[in-house]
Amino acid sequence: MNEYKIAVIEGDGIGPEVVREGLKVLNTAADKFGFRLTTEKFNFGGERYLKTKEVLSDDEVDQLRAFDAIYLGGIGHPEVKPGILERGILLKLRFDLDLYINLRPVKLYENVTTPLAGKGPTDIDYIVFRENTGGLYVGEGEFIDKGTDDEIAVQKMIYTRHQVERCIRYAFESLKNRHEGAPWKGLSAEEKANGYYAKLTLCGKTNVLTYVFDLWQRVFDEIAKEYPAIIADYCHVDAICIYMVEDPKRFNGIVTSNMFGDIITDLAAVTQGGMGVAPSGNINPQGVSMFEPVHGTAPSFAGKGVINPVATILTAVMMLNHLGEPEAALSLEAATRKTIKEMKSMLVGQMGFTTAEVGDRIAARI
Ligand code: IPM
Ligand code: MN
Repeated sequence: MNEYKIAVIEGDGIGPEVVREGLKVLNTAADKFGFRLTTEKFNFGGERYLKTKEVLSDDEVDQLRAFDAIYLGGIGHPEVKPGILERGILLKLRFDLDLYINLRPVKLYENVTTPLAGKGPTDIDYIVFRENTGGLYVGEGEFIDKGTDDEIAVQKMIYTRHQVERCIRYAFESLKNRHEGAPWKGLSAEEKANGYYAKLTLCGKTNVLTYVFDLWQRVFDEIAKEYPAIIADYCHVDAICIYMVEDPKRFNGIVTSNMFGDIITDLAAVTQGGMGVAPSGNINPQGVSMFEPVHGTAPSFAGKGVINPVATILTAVMMLNHLGEPEAALSLEAATRKTIKEMKSMLVGQMGFTTAEVGDRIAARI
């Protein structure tokens, strides 16, 4: 029997509640599909920080390397100054474990309300590959003459060719695995006739950020040659925001830098029904990966049983695929899809069910 060791970081606020439902459905899937999950909890987060002043040590990061995956609820605390936990835990994990892809599928499920008028599930179904270890997030910069009238603040957007290359290659390779033999439905007849099976859009800003996105564009064009059956497309980040709202159907995969990816995936999450349904994975294809919903800790709703666990459960679907349990992943996704159809809304407190009831219903359908 396959056994997977999962490090569980429940985190703060509603984190423990959504993770409880996630583990509920994961364990049901394990029983049904004949594998075992062993979990170990780590109490990293705002609560621990307030008690002990510990954020996350190098030793603790090293402990996580021994696991097959990390499952995280949410990190953030209203009594902790912004930045400490984000940089000290979430970003530290992304950097130290070299989780270089932030995978954010954008999929509108049936019966989920989107603010995009006239759009349905067939219009919104793509994946954003967000670079996750470089760019503006590196945190390099300086103040010059701080506090004076002549003050200058510098924040550097730094990318190595290596970082750009591995991210773009991952995006092409994922689309190849996904669509070779099962072409993306958005292709035109002509594109299909020309032998294409997928499309990857580079989201940049080559007209203004003439160093960093020049590098991205050159590397993208080079790697695209290795994938002649994937349409290599380009779009400026501002224009992407227009199309994500007006014509999301044009996207199959979008690959982009860390900061642009952060911004466009919040917009994308809104189009797919909000934070209650948006999953994500921080991937290191050669090491341990971390799975977390896009949403935060929603402290004002904690402990009330009103939060939507669907994002965390769809995150579990991604984790099962990553662990190599595609059948269990498919079944969990189908169970979630059917349960979503019964829910009144994806919004906090308006689901028609409690947090635990949503988990129970999904578990019962696996
Ligand atoms: C996200 C979050 C983080 C980010 C924050 C909390 C540091 O917004 O995962 O998208 O900016 O990456
Ligand atoms: Mn974000």
